[in-house]
Amino acid sequence: MDETTTRELLVTLAASLFNRGYAVGSAGNISVRLADGFLITPTNSSLGRLQAERLARLDVGFNHVTGDPPSKEVFMHRAMYRARPDAQAVVHLHSTMATAVACLGDVDASAPIPALTPYFVMRVGRSLPVVPYYRPGDAAMEPAIHAAALGARAMLLANHGPVVSGPSLTDAVAAAEELEEAAKLFLLLRGQAVRALSTAQVDDLLHVFG
Ligand code: 13P
Repeated sequence: MDETTTRELLVTLAASLFNRGYAVGSAGNISVRLADGFLITPTNSSLGRLQAERLARLDVGFNHVTGDPPSKEVFMHRAMYRARPDAQAVVHLHSTMATAVACLGDVDASAPIPALTPYFVMRVGRSLPVVPYYRPGDAAMEPAIHAAALGARAMLLANHGPVVSGPSLTDAVAAAEELEEAAKLFLLLRGQAVRALSTAQVDDLLHVFG
């Protein structure tokens, strides 16, 4: 996909997320890998009103080259890409349900959401670590995100929100949506006798769908 098409796709997917309530205000940021760098949403921009030509362009070293000033979470995206060479895109949201789970004090920090449905496993994977709280934009979170991303495609930032990577921009957005739905199911079913997928069922899904 050429850069112009990638820019337009990012704007379209971001607006779709915003219009369906996955992002509000100026929360959230999205990046995508290019052949010679990255595109990332500008800081303080609304995902609902991005302009393709104003997206921030970064070089391979994550330095700002052109476009509006980049998201203050560049280092968050950098940690994901550096830990996961397979990642082609990263989506960070403050989506309500996933963020609610990120605020719970009594969940397993290595698996806060059980494997309830196949698509959660297929899109998000086996692991969903919870990274301790850091202030938004605090570069000190980069090592923690990098460490978590070595073993997981997605994570929850405590009291902040989800960060999701994917093998394409479309896949990363789909995974962020699937994570939000899984969080919703988890909260809906809290306190009830849930039948999660077994380890063998999770293994089967990951074997068949990667
Ligand atoms: P930016 O506007 O700098 O991308 O920050 C938004 C956000 O979601 C912070 O976590």
